[in-house]
Amino acid sequence: MAANYNNSAWFYDALSRVVYGRSLVRAQVWLLEYVPENANILIVGGGTGWILEELTRVHPSGLTITYVEVAANMVALSKKRITGNNHVSFITNAIENVVLPMDFDVVITPFLFDNFTEQTLQRVFCHIHKALKPGGIWLNCDFQLTGRWWQNVLLKTMFVFFRVICKIEASQLPDINTRFEEKNYKMVDEKTFFGKFVLSRVYKK
Ligand SMILES: C[S@@+](CC[C@H](N)C(=O)[O-])C[C@H]1O[C@@H](n2cnc3c(N)ncnc32)[C@H](O)[C@@H]1O
Repeated sequence: MAANYNNSAWFYDALSRVVYGRSLVRAQVWLLEYVPENANILIVGGGTGWILEELTRVHPSGLTITYVEVAANMVALSKKRITGNNHVSFITNAIENVVLPMDFDVVITPFLFDNFTEQTLQRVFCHIHKALKPGGIWLNCDFQLTGRWWQNVLLKTMFVFFRVICKIEASQLPDINTRFEEKNYKMVDEKTFFGKFVLSRVYKK
């Protein structure tokens, strides 16, 4: 069953700030510096859409953004965001069901893949991969385990919570890095946040 973040839309950002402070925001804002001017961008799983306002701070105009988010309540909040003179198209659907043009300069997947089982990740990854131009930039951030006990505790707690509230399918982190390696992406830059629990990476196709 597909994840359904509708139930969590009204409290998602507040909960994230209580647990992680601004770390999850910083992890994504750091990535946005890699977005070139006038880029054609695909954002998948942007949640309440605050990333659109951060992107607009970096580029107040010239961007063409396709914003794909499966939860209608998240999209409703995202549509209220300030996006300057950028052009945003909102699509309320699971990314795997959306027919995408194959001409994106940049794709952004912020804390999307942790929702998925290994099998779903492979399918969704390939689908997004095809939509990115050769030489395009893929900005990804997600949780990772680096051997500290508290990371496991936090991760397990999140999986239990979001399985009950949002019916996510995953119960452990899928192997995200390997997906990029097997498609021969070049890792251009990386940075960790929140005691290395969060990894932001810039990849080039
Ligand atoms: C963990 S939340 C992260 C939200 C946001 N990126 C943030 O960091 O605040 C994952 C988001 O991905 C969306 N999502 C999950 N599966 C999806 C799919 N298959 N296609 C598009 N969006 C999806 C959920 O609705 C949710 O808003």
